[in-house]
Amino acid sequence: MLKNAAIIKKLTLEQKAALMSGQGEWKSYAVNNQVPAMFLSDGPLGLRKQSGAGDHLGLNGSEPATCFPSSATLANSWNLEVVEDVGQALGKEAQALDVHQVLGPGLNIKRNPLGGRNFEYYSEDPYLAGKLAGRVIRGIQANGTIATPKHFAVNSQETRRMASNSVVDERTLREIYLTNFEIAIQEGNPKSIMTSYNEVNGTYTNESHHLLQDILRQEFGFDGYVVTDWGGDNDHIAGIKNGSNLVMPGLKQPGAREVIAAVQEGRLDEAVLDQRVDELLNVVLSSNATKKNDAIKVDWDHQHQVAYQAALKSIVLLKNEADVLPLTQETRVALIGDFAANPRYQGAGSSLVNTKNLETLKDTAQAHGVTLAGYAQGYKRVGQSDPALIAEAKDLAIKSDVVVLNVGLNEVSESEGMDRKDMTMPANQVELIQELSQLDQKLVVVLSAGSPVEMPWLDRVDAVVHGYLGGEAGAGAMWEVLTGAYNPSGRLAETYPMSYADVPFGEEFPAHRRNSYYKESLFVGYRYYDKAQKAVRFPFGFGLSYTSFTYDNLSVNDQGVEVKVTNSGQVAGTETVQLYIGKAETNILRPAKELKALPKLA
Ligand code: GLC
Repeated sequence: MLKNAAIIKKLTLEQKAALMSGQGEWKSYAVNNQVPAMFLSDGPLGLRKQSGAGDHLGLNGSEPATCFPSSATLANSWNLEVVEDVGQALGKEAQALDVHQVLGPGLNIKRNPLGGRNFEYYSEDPYLAGKLAGRVIRGIQANGTIATPKHFAVNSQETRRMASNSVVDERTLREIYLTNFEIAIQEGNPKSIMTSYNEVNGTYTNESHHLLQDILRQEFGFDGYVVTDWGGDNDHIAGIKNGSNLVMPGLKQPGAREVIAAVQEGRLDEAVLDQRVDELLNVVLSSNATKKNDAIKVDWDHQHQVAYQAALKSIVLLKNEADVLPLTQETRVALIGDFAANPRYQGAGSSLVNTKNLETLKDTAQAHGVTLAGYAQGYKRVGQSDPALIAEAKDLAIKSDVVVLNVGLNEVSESEGMDRKDMTMPANQVELIQELSQLDQKLVVVLSAGSPVEMPWLDRVDAVVHGYLGGEAGAGAMWEVLTGAYNPSGRLAETYPMSYADVPFGEEFPAHRRNSYYKESLFVGYRYYDKAQKAVRFPFGFGLSYTSFTYDNLSVNDQGVEVKVTNSGQVAGTETVQLYIGKAETNILRPAKELKALPKLA
């Protein structure tokens, strides 16, 4: 039963065929005054609206927009309200910039710590990823903007991303690589979804009846429209037949002629084409593309505050030896590291945001009551160690009480379109940590990275605070945590292995040939390290606080689980309660425990 039968009846075959692909890089197709064009824009951590030359890799410019913390960062908040606020802010900014559809959130599973786009995804755990994505979708769509969870599905490596076949068993497909989308769809009710470039078990996702019909629409109840990744269509007619509604960017006349010929030659039933058009029109005709939004303007200060609060609640305290943190007002701080003056605050690729309101640790120290003994670059962002920079850093350090050293991964270490080569940080930064750790001063490492790094230096430093990629307001948020103005509440949303050698089937990642075999099956992330009882550097869900919490009166009944959480320390703080469930006696191979709830705190 077509919901838009009246309109579809008036459309010619040519018009229906044209609607199946976009009009240029960022617009869907318009038909006279019957079907408006929608403007689609990246991305998950801020708008990348391109009015000039368009591209899907972040190469050409884009309009100024707010840069929120990346998804990997937001995930560390484990806070559904925070991420929904970010979604709402994204949706509002989109409407003000006349963007009708935001191409995010990205929620693919972090199968391996070297995944190049891990910064843009939430977690190794499908439940956490789905819950967070569901609320971001709800936020984005609150004012009529369309959200686009992506990339459906099993898209967990960047290498050969357009010609990679994910070979995965059905149980793992369902329990690990689709549960995130299932939760996100049922909780967020997205009006669109983006298919991935890759194949799953030999069929391109964008033309997979099993994925797009049996699972997505029948089982998950998805009732929006399916858009390809940019250039992600393999066979346009097969895509239409199996449930894909819009190829982006536009295929222009050749695409339309291909559809017309398929119908005229009986290779594509026109009723199926009408069904695809109807699914697309359901969304377009109820979108903001049908309204004029001239009156809506961006409140940039509000947007910056949302980015700041999100960054604040996502910071993870990993180590705090002898309570070197929080810093006191009297503490003389030597601020060292190129990232402290030129922040690493977002990822690279299609998610790139042109932010105009970027805070740096160096410039915001005083505003947060921090007494700087000075700043030194310490290392070149990319390249070899520089003895002069190291010497300058050491000279500054010895004039201070505490060194705050901002290091991590630079822009060439992790990016869309490529996977990381290893889990190490740049050697010149590791050398600087080694040099500074030999001085008498306390050494606080502030990490800026979108995915796990090896930390052979951990025992030689006094504290580690992880800001991930904190967005435009990440620096101010970091000072709030370092000075104790905010008690860190972030928890890791992915495991930090001791070394990459411990990663299951790590030597086979990424697949450099067509087939990527998901041999670890269900045992992704903590599901593996728990089951294998393998020690990790920092476990999934880990994070310290400036206070302590006690758990009492745990009770389990058929209504659920209750526990009493008490702040037993000296300062206020937020505890992230995590509920895992396992089955002691089981004759089915399964993870030892799995995250099943983020309990609401009474
Ligand atoms: C890119 C990305 C996708 C993005 C799209 C448009 O290749 O895979 O996430 O939304 O193209 O830029």
